[in-house]
Amino acid sequence: MSSSNTPSSTLTPPALKPLKLNSSGLGKTTKPATSKLTPPKLNFALGGSKSSGSSKLATPKLSFSLGETAVKPVVIKNVTPTTWSPTTTSLVLVKRELETHDSMSFTFAAADQTLFDFKPGQFVTLAVKIEDKTHYRAYSISSVPQQKQLRLTIKRVPDGLVSNWLADNLAIGDNLSALNIAGQFNSSDCQHKAKLLLVSAGCGITPVMSIAKTLLAQDSDADIEFLHCARDKDNVIFHAEMQTLTAQHSNFKVQLLLENSDGIVSKNVIQQLYPDLQDRTIFLCGPVGFMKAVENIAQESDFDMANFFQESFTPAADNKQQDNLSLDASGASTASVMLYVPDFAVEKKVVQGASLLELLENNGVPIIGACRAGVCGSCKCKVTSGEVKSTSSETLTAAEIEQGFVLACSSTVEGDITVALS
Ligand code: FES
Repeated sequence: MSSSNTPSSTLTPPALKPLKLNSSGLGKTTKPATSKLTPPKLNFALGGSKSSGSSKLATPKLSFSLGETAVKPVVIKNVTPTTWSPTTTSLVLVKRELETHDSMSFTFAAADQTLFDFKPGQFVTLAVKIEDKTHYRAYSISSVPQQKQLRLTIKRVPDGLVSNWLADNLAIGDNLSALNIAGQFNSSDCQHKAKLLLVSAGCGITPVMSIAKTLLAQDSDADIEFLHCARDKDNVIFHAEMQTLTAQHSNFKVQLLLENSDGIVSKNVIQQLYPDLQDRTIFLCGPVGFMKAVENIAQESDFDMANFFQESFTPAADNKQQDNLSLDASGASTASVMLYVPDFAVEKKVVQGASLLELLENNGVPIIGACRAGVCGSCKCKVTSGEVKSTSSETLTAAEIEQGFVLACSSTVEGDITVALS
């Protein structure tokens, strides 16, 4: 099977109608099935805006190579599908698709033609071996459950070890191990209304796309509005796929908000685009700052936050084996503290303020940092004495926090500490 940079759909993406504006500015769009794309008067509407040459944001230095990895034949046995067990069935890469210059979709199958069972919006933890060391990372699933293929969409991260390695090295036919599928942000567990507003930015579109596609595939009569924010049109992940879905489903409407030409999300934009906001359930995913802005807008709009679900999945820079996190006995020019992990014979002078996860990883403690963003809970560990500063305890119960459990990825070491993995 060959790799491809184009969406797998064979449908021709339709031209889309731009957003219609009312006299006061932004207004609702209606989507006739056979409309022709006209340049929008304001810069909203799927495919309508063109990217500005005067971007305020720095152009990312990293990009995927267009010359894809070598193609290997993939042999999938013709057997009855079963439900996937992540720990016993490895993934086989069957397709690579370039989504934008720095994001790529990887489609996996399993040799036993497993049906991938998950809840739309969840993520999978991969085990990736790089130079004899296994790294664990969580990636959101962008495909629909109960299919024979599982799609992950991954964005390069500056200085990122695993995501960049996957982009540069994972070839068709290669195997990967997965540990588990998890995530509380999903449309199965989060009770939602028949009207939804899906909001995403950047790579945060990944789990939200899975939610949208699943609802549409179920023939749900859900009324789905999808607002996606990106730097410019060239940075819109799943652009063609959204166009196709919009043409196929009258209950699915997409608005793009392009930062370079439209500006950033605001209360005015949300209220004018979605006057029925109060009737909707919001699913939100994107970088932390973006999500905070949308959350504030919802609160200022008196939105019932019981219908507001969010997940931050900002890709964190990977651990680059920073030697300066640990100090030898004589080299402490920076404020240093002691890290003790008795179960693994770790007794080390380290830099105050360093990431607890990176310290543990660098000192050979077998902790799994999958999402590295305080979301998945895989890095849970117990501080038996000492002090850390934590920015997230999202997956911890009150009882666990009381017992001293922290999320290592979201904690920095502030004084001498002793840590245990359980
Ligand atoms: S690595 Fe996921 S919560 Fe820390």
